[in-house]
Amino acid sequence: MSSIPGVTSVGVVGAGLMGTGIAQVCLQAGYDVVVFDSNPEAVLRADARIKKVLGDGFAGGSLVLANFMGELADCELIIEAVFERRDVKQAALKELGQIAPNSILASNTSTLSITDLASVTPDPRKVAGAHFFSPVPKMKALEVVRALTTSDETIALLIAFGASIGKDTFVAPDQAGFLINRTLIPFMINCINEWVALRGSMTMEQFDQAYKNALGHPMGPLTLADLVGLDVLTDAADSMWQQTRRPDHVCPEIIRQMVASGWLGRKSKKGFYTYPAKS
Ligand SMILES: NC(=O)c1ccc[n+]([C@@H]2O[C@H](COP(=O)([O-])OP(=O)(O)OC[C@H]3O[C@@H](n4cnc5c(N)ncnc54)[C@H](O)[C@@H]3O)[C@@H](O)[C@H]2O)c1
Repeated sequence: MSSIPGVTSVGVVGAGLMGTGIAQVCLQAGYDVVVFDSNPEAVLRADARIKKVLGDGFAGGSLVLANFMGELADCELIIEAVFERRDVKQAALKELGQIAPNSILASNTSTLSITDLASVTPDPRKVAGAHFFSPVPKMKALEVVRALTTSDETIALLIAFGASIGKDTFVAPDQAGFLINRTLIPFMINCINEWVALRGSMTMEQFDQAYKNALGHPMGPLTLADLVGLDVLTDAADSMWQQTRRPDHVCPEIIRQMVASGWLGRKSKKGFYTYPAKS
């Protein structure tokens, strides 16, 4: 893996689960990485996590922890991984487009329309989706999403970038959920609704195990929902429902209640399952 022509430095905005993983794989591929998050604690957590994984003798790219978004101005490629909310993403992308007018802007959105996000930027030709999968260092796929306005050059750069960080890239259309989440989110929603209907007759472990055994999946749907984050799942379902009004895109009530209780899944140590403090 090595960096591609024209990109030496990658900016990552949003240093949560996904931003941290994206920063890590970019560093490992030799890119210099600048990470910004509106929550300074998230940047520090990302730094600690990346250093722990990469170890002391790491000889890849350098990591800069930014205090302001303006510090990403020299990054030729900027990947946005902030909350899955249209207003938050549009504000971030608009500002990035002003700060770094020549840079390619890629959104890691799971479900929001890239064309709509790109429309607020100064040059929508330079905006596309770069949808990574969790956990980023392990999952091989990178879904590049072409907006109505994305240029061929932008798509080509993201395909080359994906290869440079060891990902197999495919180009998906700009529709709610693109390719993978268009099918995965309804699957998770259906499973959670079935779990609610069955509650009492099967344990969570039995429910998850049934899917693992029957489908060969590495984890059951409730474990997956905890890993994705119940807040992220809510936002994703809401955004897909806004776009499609399909009944299988309606976020289950139980998920809203769990999120309201601070049960966000693995990241809060409590979701469907309870996780040890140091997991
Ligand atoms: N969790 C998953 O499995 C998964 C998979 C693929 C894509 N995604 C997408 O990736 C994005 C991030 O998801 P996540 O799971 O990392 O969420 P997360 O909650 O772990 O992290 C989001 C981070 O963005 C930061 N943030 C919010 N607004 C910001 C702003 N305006 N400027 C800078 N930072 C800001 C938050 O402080 C937080 O640290 C979402 O769009 C989500 O849909 C998530």
